[in-house]
Amino acid sequence: MWERCWLYAAHEDQLAKPGDCVLWNYGSSPIVLIRDDDGEVRAFYNTCRHRGAPIVPQGSNCVNRRMICGYHGWTYDRRGRLIKASEPRDWNEESLQCRNLISIRCEKYACWYFVNEDSSSESLEEFLRPITRHLDHLPLQDLRLIHRSLYKVRANIKIVIENFLESYHFNFLHKNTTHRFLDNRGTNVHLWENGHSLMLSPNRRRGWKDPGTEGLPEMDGCTQIEKANNPSYCVFPNLILPIAPTGIPGVAMWPTGLDSSVLEVLWFAPDYATGPLDAIWEVRIENFDRIIQEDIRFAEPIQESIQSRGFTGVALSYQERRIYHWHETLDSYFDGKAIKKNLSVLPLLGKWVE
Ligand code: FES
Ligand SMILES: [Fe+2]
Repeated sequence: MWERCWLYAAHEDQLAKPGDCVLWNYGSSPIVLIRDDDGEVRAFYNTCRHRGAPIVPQGSNCVNRRMICGYHGWTYDRRGRLIKASEPRDWNEESLQCRNLISIRCEKYACWYFVNEDSSSESLEEFLRPITRHLDHLPLQDLRLIHRSLYKVRANIKIVIENFLESYHFNFLHKNTTHRFLDNRGTNVHLWENGHSLMLSPNRRRGWKDPGTEGLPEMDGCTQIEKANNPSYCVFPNLILPIAPTGIPGVAMWPTGLDSSVLEVLWFAPDYATGPLDAIWEVRIENFDRIIQEDIRFAEPIQESIQSRGFTGVALSYQERRIYHWHETLDSYFDGKAIKKNLSVLPLLGKWVE
């Protein structure tokens, strides 16, 4: 699935000017995103066409308008074209043709770039339409990336993702955090095509405003959906966007092994023009970090526990039906090819997909 799906890769602020690049290595292959001289953002496998060394090492930028492989110095321009092999007398020109970097599809929704390794899949716009029709009233294209942090979790990616698809655990895992202001019993679950979904949890008190957002600018166009609830969207397969009028914490989750994952927490804020970022953000980010830590604390012991013979499968409630929907969508990526017995789910939720 990870090779055939649109996946969140970067925010526009990370690729603000020509030559800015982001090394993205959470899908099935390491990929580099780079803004070229014409302003277009392109994506390539970060793999040199000589003998496969990575072109852009972690944390670096593209030097002198070019991407230069550190192993033998092959040089590519910002459009991925091989423009120079070092020691040219050892090469005949023909053997260097068709040695450009291999490009990947890269498309944008609002301020977010997504990549997809499958050249035959639908456009990003089509893939996201079932969810973007509920988001288009918000000025998401103006959001700024103000914070990004990574957490390693020793648990399978499904444990990590499933945790963010239900509100049933609020009362227990988040007794002193989320549970205090969100009423999980009032949660509405909406299932959409392509695996996307929404969990709409009402604020516990009418007119409640998160004190941690006092004085922060709000996005234009917010409705009662955002003001009186926590609408937590899942962009299939792994991006969670719980939207508040004053900003959005994005949670993206990536598999790094069978029993290990990376959780990426991003903060998108309404444009604060050129002024400094309000100091209250530090507290807000810390508060959310507490909630994330509460989630992670349980993910790792669950990994151990479900490897026991005492684990025979799961039972799911209404508040957890997004998990089932997610798995139905995952199975659809197998195109009817045999999935081992008991590892697929019966397609049941079709008539509840809006
Ligand atoms: S592997 Fe990149 S130049 Fe040799
Ligand atoms: Fe949680």
